[in-house]
Amino acid sequence: MARVFSGIQPSGGMHLGNLLGALRNWVAYQHEHDAVYCVVDLHALTTAPDPAELRDNTVAAATMLMSVGIDPDRSTLFLQSSVSEHAELAWMMECTVGFGELRRMTQFKDKSDRSEFVSAGLFTYPALQASDILLYDTDLVPVGDDQRQHIELCRDIAERFNRRYGDTFVVPAHVIPETGARVMDLQNPDDKMSKSLESAGTVGVLEDPDSVTRKFKRAVTDSDNEVRYDPAAKPGVSNLIGILAAATGQNPVSVADEYSQYGPLKSDTADAVNELLNPIRDRFAELSSDPAEIARVLAAGADKAHTVAATTLERARTNAGLIPRQPT
Ligand code: TYM
Repeated sequence: MARVFSGIQPSGGMHLGNLLGALRNWVAYQHEHDAVYCVVDLHALTTAPDPAELRDNTVAAATMLMSVGIDPDRSTLFLQSSVSEHAELAWMMECTVGFGELRRMTQFKDKSDRSEFVSAGLFTYPALQASDILLYDTDLVPVGDDQRQHIELCRDIAERFNRRYGDTFVVPAHVIPETGARVMDLQNPDDKMSKSLESAGTVGVLEDPDSVTRKFKRAVTDSDNEVRYDPAAKPGVSNLIGILAAATGQNPVSVADEYSQYGPLKSDTADAVNELLNPIRDRFAELSSDPAEIARVLAAGADKAHTVAATTLERARTNAGLIPRQPT
């Protein structure tokens, strides 16, 4: 069975982009694949979050993954920091990736431009991400479009390591959905939707339905009042069409054909999104009442993940010339 791996940062509430770009595919893959999903709390440390907030966000992220439909009986669900092999292999990845390659990462450029303090961890972040993926002999990585460059770099790292030290890692491929791969901010449709939930441009998965509807009604469009799917020329309108298409499983061009005015497009998009989010909100409330169960799922997931990760790490260590920890 092909192995699927993906991760999400516990940095605040999840938004519609996470759901349409990644999490829906995560849920779909667990039925016919060996699926491994991870809350990447070590990655969150790159921006020094408040410790209490990090703890809360980490538990909330795991709860959210179960609320969207990740079934711990089908998938392995765990916290990155619970499996120390991630950090150890990351060092070997740092020694395999080039400085120039890391410098070209657009996410690093964006995030470092916006930060006063730029940690070395923010720079080497893609090496830890490669470690996450390669530890599990991953075939497929379901992600949104913004992770494309990181997964391509992960492939390059795996190929380089394999050339240097002999066959060690499976070289993974990304899976990016046809619709919903790039959900844009409702107020600034040239930027992707991101985790600042107070913003009028971001729709939180747990947000109150009336607030979601208001945000869609106020979404930025343009003044020519023509419903057409053309992301370059009409980013705001095309974003709404793309969201409605992704939420209802349709093709954006045929969705656009059904509308002649912006008003009905906005209200139908809000309704479709609320319909998608309602059961997730209910499930989140239900699961949040039993934190011990979440902790149990994560501990069992970490045990399963550790078994696979330890084998891969040992192979990488041995192939690179490190002396085995325990004589065989
Ligand atoms: P993160 O936590 O920013 O996002 C989690 C997933 O959501 C997708 N996504 C979006 N998709 C569509 N439209 C958007 N506006 C949008 N915003 C986010 C992301 O593409 C991602 O799939 N570096 C990763 C986490 C990570 C990871 C990994 C992913 C760490 N290790 C290994 C895959 C494999 C990140 O920061 O995602």
